[in-house]
Amino acid sequence: MHIPVLLKEVTDNLIHKDDGIYIDATLGFGGHSKAILSSLGRGKLLGIDRDIEALSQVHIDDNRFEKMKANFTSIDVAAHIWGVEKVDGILADIGVSSYQIDSNDRGFSYIGDGPLDMRMDKSMDKSALDVVNSYSEEDIANVIYNFGEERRSRRIAKLIVKRRSSSVIRTTSELFGIVMSASSSGLSSVKRVFQAIRIEVNNEIDNLKIMLDKASNLLSTGGRISIITFHSLEDRIVKSYFRESKFLEPLFKKAIVPSGEEVEQNSRSKPAKLRVAYKLPVNQY
Ligand SMILES: C[S@@+](CC[C@H](N)C(=O)[O-])C[C@H]1O[C@@H](n2cnc3c(N)ncnc32)[C@H](O)[C@@H]1O
Repeated sequence: MHIPVLLKEVTDNLIHKDDGIYIDATLGFGGHSKAILSSLGRGKLLGIDRDIEALSQVHIDDNRFEKMKANFTSIDVAAHIWGVEKVDGILADIGVSSYQIDSNDRGFSYIGDGPLDMRMDKSMDKSALDVVNSYSEEDIANVIYNFGEERRSRRIAKLIVKRRSSSVIRTTSELFGIVMSASSSGLSSVKRVFQAIRIEVNNEIDNLKIMLDKASNLLSTGGRISIITFHSLEDRIVKSYFRESKFLEPLFKKAIVPSGEEVEQNSRSKPAKLRVAYKLPVNQY
C-alpha cells in the first residue's frame, strides 16, 4: 500500500488544460495517476515506471490512460512510442514507493531481513550486494558521504571492507549490524547509508538530471513540470535546475510541503517537497 503525497497540491498545479496530454513519470501504485485522471476531461495520461512489479499492480480501467515500463531518462522515447511529441504536464514523484520499501525481498529496507538488492529495475546488473562487496573502500566512503551526507562515511566503509574480507555481505540485516557498530548515531546513520547505496545502485542523481533535461524539451509552451523529492540532495538539484533553466520558470519561489494534517495521517510524507515550473514561450528563451 502506498499513500500518494501532496495529492491536491499536485493536481491543482499540474492540470492547467483539462483536455491536455500528461505523463506520470513515476507511476508507482498509481495514486497520483488516478487523481490526475479524475481532474482531467478529454485529456490523456501515460504512466511510466521502471519497476515491472509496481506496473503489474496498477489496474486503472480508463481509456484515457496507458502504462509503460520505462526509465524516465527515456521519457521522450516513451512519449514517442505513445504517439505524442509534446505534452502539457509531467509529474515525477522521485524515490521508492512504500510497497518497494515494505517488500523485504527487494532489500530496500533495514527493517526486516532481505537480500542486499535495492534495484528498482530487476533487469539491471548492479545490486546493493555488488556495491557493498566489490567497490573499493574509498568508493564506498564517497557513495555514503555524497548520497547519504553521512559524516562517519570513512569509518563505516572501513568496517564494511574489513567484514567482507572474511565473508560476502549478503543481507540487509548484516549491513544494518555493521553500520550500527561503526557509528554512534545508530539508526540515523543506518537510514543515511541505506539511502546512499540505493541512490548509487539505481543511479538516481544522474537519472534525475537527465530526466529534467528531456522533460523540459518535451513540454509544450505553458506546460507544467511538477517534481516531488524526499531529501535535500534531490531538492537542491530540482531547485537550481528550475532557477537556471532558460526554458523553464518556477511557478513558486518556495517548495510546497505537506500540511500538518497530511503529516499526521501519513508520516512518510513529512520530508516531501513539491516544486513546479512552466515552459516559457520560444521568444522568451
Ligand atoms: C514514490 S513512488 C511513486 C508513487 C506514485 N506517485 C503513487 O502515487 O503511487 C516512486 C516510483 O518511481 C519509480 N521510479 C524511480 N525512479 C524511476 C526512474 N528513473 N524511471 C521510472 N520510474 C522510476 C519507482 O520504481 C517507484 O515505483
